[in-house]
Amino acid sequence: MKITEAIKELEQWNIVVIPTETVYGLAADATNISAIKNIFITKNRPQDNPLIVHVWHKKDINTYAKIQSDLEKTLIEKFMPWPFTILLHKKNTISDTVTAGSTLVAIRIPQHPIALKILQDSWLALAAPSANISGKPSPTNITMVEQNFGDSVAVVDGGRCAVWIESTVVQVQWDSVIIHRPGFITPTDIHLAIGKDVPVIYSNEKNNISPGIKYKHYAPKAQIHLLEPGSLLPINSAKRGLIVTDERISKHQCEIAQSNCRIYRRGSHANLLECAQKLYDLYYQADKDGILHIYIESLPEENGVAYAIMNRVKKSLE
Ligand code: TXA
Ligand code: MG
Repeated sequence: MKITEAIKELEQWNIVVIPTETVYGLAADATNISAIKNIFITKNRPQDNPLIVHVWHKKDINTYAKIQSDLEKTLIEKFMPWPFTILLHKKNTISDTVTAGSTLVAIRIPQHPIALKILQDSWLALAAPSANISGKPSPTNITMVEQNFGDSVAVVDGGRCAVWIESTVVQVQWDSVIIHRPGFITPTDIHLAIGKDVPVIYSNEKNNISPGIKYKHYAPKAQIHLLEPGSLLPINSAKRGLIVTDERISKHQCEIAQSNCRIYRRGSHANLLECAQKLYDLYYQADKDGILHIYIESLPEENGVAYAIMNRVKKSLE
């Protein structure tokens, strides 16, 4: 579908799948309750899991949310547009249906030129969760979108997403930045932008306020098994797939050959962005190949991007 057609659909409160630089989003007018309800139904999304509101420009944020501190202001200045979502106190322009009853609304300015053009030309704020049935991996191209919804939803094709991993979701609490969903923007990036003195903390199960985090998520049909360093592969197993780095393949050629698993290469350890970009692609590929069990190599989590990848892998194990 063309951008102009998509805008017409959105103005009539219909849903359109649009590309963003992270993953495709199932978008609709964030200020129209029936459009929002339609998103929840189409995705089979639990009612208590709020939606991210996408806007075109920083100056639009004030229409939907209150910016209450200098730290929030700085984060917005430095990281928007980017794969970055900030929780702010909502204004009455955003209904409780969008935020699932929370007084906070998640705001994001995407960086993808098509998403930005749609937001700019329509003058709309768009609620857009990832364009997958709840629980499945997020789609990063339109074939993956079709694997979720067939041709029942309109789609704007923006090719393959650049970043893959969903945006980092943060909240300012007192003088700290809390990361509720790890992503492409890492604590190191945030420290570089705001200085080392401000604590940047990953939330834990107790203080995480993103309902999406509590569900099993990002899971393909195949069952996922984590392969810790040093652990051996199952031998002679049918319909099993192995998602591995190039390094493991070259080090453990013999073991891998004996395992009889189908190999899915995720790229090199040295290129974590590629590992991130390939994860959901490989999940969808393995499902297409009829794989029943996927063994996936664990990555050391010290690096923020690896931490985000492992966050998604662990959520798909639960
Ligand atoms: O990269 C992305 O963020 C993609 C693209 C399409 O923009 N969107 C995305 O949306 O991943 P979704 O709905 O799949 O994930 C949104 C996450 C969920 O974990 C949800 O619980 C959390 O953000 N969230 C949204 N609104 C919130 C709120 N008001 N308070 C706390 N958490 C919120
Ligand atoms: Mg999602």
